[in-house]
Amino acid sequence: MPRMRLSLRFLLPISVLFALLATLMMPLVDAWNLRWSIRDLDNQSQLITETLKEPLVELIVKEDYAKVQAMLNSAIKEKRLYALAYCDEAGKMRRWTQTFPTELGCAPSNGENGVVRINSDDSRGGPVHLSIQPLKDEGQVFGYLVFVHDMGYLEHRSSETRGYVIAAFTILAVLVMMITLLVAHLSWHNWMAGIRAVLRGENPIRAMEQADPEVRPIIRDLNQMLSDASRRSTLRDDATTQWGPETLRQLLHDHLYGDEILVVSNREPYVHVHTDQGIQVQRPASGLVTAVEPVMRACSGTWIAQGSGSADKESADAKGRLRVPPDRPSYTLRRIWLSEEEERGYYYGFANEGIWPLCHIAHVRPNFRGADWEQYVKVNQRFADAVVEETNTHDPVILVQDYHFALLPRMIRELLPRATILTFWHIPWPNPESFGICPWRNEILEGLLGSTILGFHTPYHRKNFIETVDRFLETRIEHENSTISYRGKLTMVQDYPISIHWPGATADGADMVAEPRQRIRQQLGLDDEDKLLLGVDRLDYTKGIIERFEAVERLLEKRPEWVGRLCLLQIAAPSRSLLDEYQGFESRVRATAARINERFGDARIPPILLRIEQHSHGAVVEHYRACDICMVTSLHDGMNLVAKEFVAAREDEAGVLILSQFAGAAGELREALVINPYDREETAAALHSALSMAPAEQRERMRSLRALVRDFNIYRWAGRMLVDAAVARRQARIQERIFYQSASPSRRKR
Ligand code: F6P
Repeated sequence: MPRMRLSLRFLLPISVLFALLATLMMPLVDAWNLRWSIRDLDNQSQLITETLKEPLVELIVKEDYAKVQAMLNSAIKEKRLYALAYCDEAGKMRRWTQTFPTELGCAPSNGENGVVRINSDDSRGGPVHLSIQPLKDEGQVFGYLVFVHDMGYLEHRSSETRGYVIAAFTILAVLVMMITLLVAHLSWHNWMAGIRAVLRGENPIRAMEQADPEVRPIIRDLNQMLSDASRRSTLRDDATTQWGPETLRQLLHDHLYGDEILVVSNREPYVHVHTDQGIQVQRPASGLVTAVEPVMRACSGTWIAQGSGSADKESADAKGRLRVPPDRPSYTLRRIWLSEEEERGYYYGFANEGIWPLCHIAHVRPNFRGADWEQYVKVNQRFADAVVEETNTHDPVILVQDYHFALLPRMIRELLPRATILTFWHIPWPNPESFGICPWRNEILEGLLGSTILGFHTPYHRKNFIETVDRFLETRIEHENSTISYRGKLTMVQDYPISIHWPGATADGADMVAEPRQRIRQQLGLDDEDKLLLGVDRLDYTKGIIERFEAVERLLEKRPEWVGRLCLLQIAAPSRSLLDEYQGFESRVRATAARINERFGDARIPPILLRIEQHSHGAVVEHYRACDICMVTSLHDGMNLVAKEFVAAREDEAGVLILSQFAGAAGELREALVINPYDREETAAALHSALSMAPAEQRERMRSLRALVRDFNIYRWAGRMLVDAAVARRQARIQERIFYQSASPSRRKR
């Protein structure tokens, strides 16, 4: 097809040019034809005169005009000689052939050779050529001969010559076209050979040298894109790469050339609060913060988040900025202050009473209020303005986090069209039917499609999103590349399973675990033989906390041998407690724990120990080490990082993970005991298996889980997204360059 187009581009003008030339040539051809014919006729007349001169002069001298007449008659037998006359030196016509047009007489109008038109009786009327030849012998003139040549054949000769000219031009045109095609073919071949050489992975420098100059920029871009793609797939799929902060820093240096990085999330990584001991810094119970904070330490840049601590304002400067982490500052935290009305509408209202239950299948009805939506739009716009305020460049890399900011990508895109926007949706994405009940579904989808890259934890959530877009918006979706094109803007939709910072090897893993295990067990009043089950969550109805308690109850019912020999320690960080749903949930959790403990009130240790309070990260890690079984029983969860943190903390390669099939982590952590939290029998049975599991099996499972979490850690998660971002940035630059090169000069100036 391109060859065809190329040929047409050359061949059409060539054909038109040759047709034009042939048309212009026709009058010239006629003129040349006439000139050559006249010269021909004059030569012929001269020749005849020379031949006849001697006998004719003899007859003239003898005045034998009868023989002169006969001689003239026989001379015109030559087919183009129409008539001949003999005139004496005085210009009197003495003898002439019968065909001679007597009106011409001996002296044609100008007395010279030339073409005249005659009217003849026979069919030869039309142009004739007169050729006047003197009869000279030895210097003496004996009169002259007037030759009349028929020029009727000229038209025939002219049309014949035209035919030849057209044929010649046609042959020439065909030859030129064939040569052009050959040259085009050879060039195309060279282009293709150059491009193929690159695609075959031959030495790029040699491929460049051998390629035609005009194809070199394409080869350069192609090389760049291919090496990007191969680097990307190497980085993505090479499980042997050990990802850590340094790998990520190197990646930023190599791929993003130190480009500016900004993170936007609702929850801030460090909260300053007033306590009796003065201002203290706390780390919030947030999977998002756990995941993104180590990345920010590695990348530097700026993190924009809501300032929510009681001492946040006095810990930051007038613009809400401060350097964090407090012990080793490596990036800037910019706090945004929200009014009570804004926080109630945007955070508690639309985000947590609308989108949160909408996206989690936990049987809590979403609540959509127009007033909340207004605050959600307003706060998203405030964060978009803050991004513009904080950025020093026109094309920063912006990492937008979570369902609090569904509108932000489009808003940023409008303010910073050249920014690379990576949005990560930390919670599940439901199917189109479920999502379709949101009154502002289109606005949310349009907002998210402002992203360059949109990430989900699992392929299933990604698929749900694409199907939702397909259902509600007019877009072009390319399933092979997982891209959505909406209003001329392309968004890549991918799954990037989030993870945690891998703490790294310690000298002796078993020692790391033994000390906190002993201490915490002592604190809880447990003997060495007692089994400690652990749950660590935000106090949220999606986490399956009540189902977890009931599974323990069911186990004790079915297997009374465990009564008084185990307890479940539930650490629950208070969350969104302003909302009725959460207050009601807390009451139900407390009531369930109390009921079960009462039921097994005779037991030496209560089955449930409930701690509804904030624990520091360090304290949580110690509990992971102290327990025998970690229970993650979410009814629906994007990923669930508690599961991964538990695995990372178990340097002793002991302990069992019970994991809900409805948590994204279940797709990766296959060696966990995977359960359906709605099925109490199944969970109770899994608990029994875990409690009775031999140390060897625990070790085997834990080793495999640890290898996975170590290799697929948070740096790999961030690295994969940033490599994709770097490729998207380069592609955008190449497209810009191609557009710039192909744009007309006037357009370029704009
Ligand atoms: O699970 C979604 C999520 O945004 C997490 O990323 C985070 O851990 C949690 O919710 C935070 O909730 P909140 O900020 O409302 O306490």
